Amino acid sequence: MQKMQTSVPAFIVHVDGRPVAAHAGETVAAVLLAAGIRIFRRTAQRGEPRGVFCGIGVCYECLVTVDGAANTRACVTVVAPGMVIETGQAERHNHAR
Ligand code: FES
Repeated sequence: MQKMQTSVPAFIVHVDGRPVAAHAGETVAAVLLAAGIRIFRRTAQRGEPRGVFCGIGVCYECLVTVDGAANTRACVTVVAPGMVIETGQAERHNHAR
């Protein structure tokens, strides 16, 4: 997938150990999707893939780990320079962010 052209300056975030370009105001979910990442985590019991579903912070399917904080909703978390994002580790529970 190709990222939209924008005049907002880019910065780097780290996704699963690799540098990825991001722009101010983008959500973590937008950056992951633009990088071609569709599976954000897998369910604990059956290993089923999960990613963006509602996109508005309601379903909790998009959980990732951000700067060490597990269970962070990617769709409502705005990226920041140097942010460290990890997919595949977060698990949905009642204390999700
Ligand atoms: S996609 Fe539903 S909470 Fe993020």
